[in-house]
Amino acid sequence: MEIIVKDSAEEMSKSAARVVARALNAKPNAVLGLATGSTPLGLYKELVRLHVEEGLDFSQVTTFNLDEYVGLTRKHPQSYHYFMHENLFKHINIPKENIHIPSGTTDNYEAFCAWYERRIVELGGIDLQIVGIGTDGHIAFNEPTSSLGSRTRIKTLAKQTIDDNARFFDSADEVPIYAITMGVGTILEARKIILLASGLNKADAVAQAIEGPVTSMITASALQLHADTMFIVDKEAAGSLQMAEYYEWIQAKMPDAP
Ligand code: GLP
Repeated sequence: MEIIVKDSAEEMSKSAARVVARALNAKPNAVLGLATGSTPLGLYKELVRLHVEEGLDFSQVTTFNLDEYVGLTRKHPQSYHYFMHENLFKHINIPKENIHIPSGTTDNYEAFCAWYERRIVELGGIDLQIVGIGTDGHIAFNEPTSSLGSRTRIKTLAKQTIDDNARFFDSADEVPIYAITMGVGTILEARKIILLASGLNKADAVAQAIEGPVTSMITASALQLHADTMFIVDKEAAGSLQMAEYYEWIQAKMPDAP
């Protein structure tokens, strides 16, 4: 695992954008796995800037988003479809047909989930997967006790997640109770994974994910089983890491660190 601690959320975002840009320069038709939430917003802003100002090309890129709320249409301002369109897709040159986001309104969730999994495989698998982390240690919407081998499916959200995400809605009552999410097993099949985290409220979850035992209680800890995972976090989110000095020392010795 590579642990990169940055001074600010802005630096975290720029560092992640450099990794994505390197991946696209090496493989212009890369398959990206994308996340929502407030954490990757800075990354998307920087990718848009790289596209507009430096010509970063998305014309051959394919994307798969991690998750979507069940019951929200793609036009709903809190849907992840809307979020991705507003914050990234409408600003870059990605073909519409290359974008995949789980459907929150399909009439057959089981068939949709099976199709989503198949589609990832058909397109060659995910080259680079971006994930955030919930305060309860979840990745995507894989809440505590999700199987570490789980696949794309419907999950019931934990109370903690509903409370955390209520800030985007008028009240907690409006947060959907169910989501459709890639599984931990699906995520672990990506060739490379980057977990982003910023802010003090993520410090405990980050420490447990990186330095705690691998457990379904903190589904981000499953990333310890992946051979190419990078955690890019800001100083606040790194605040509870016991080995922080060691990670900073390693980074200082790496000339091409992102
Ligand atoms: C939601 C999303 C996750 C995200 C998490 C943290 O639960 N499903 O993918 O990582 O929120 O969001 P934020 O970045 O806003 O803290």
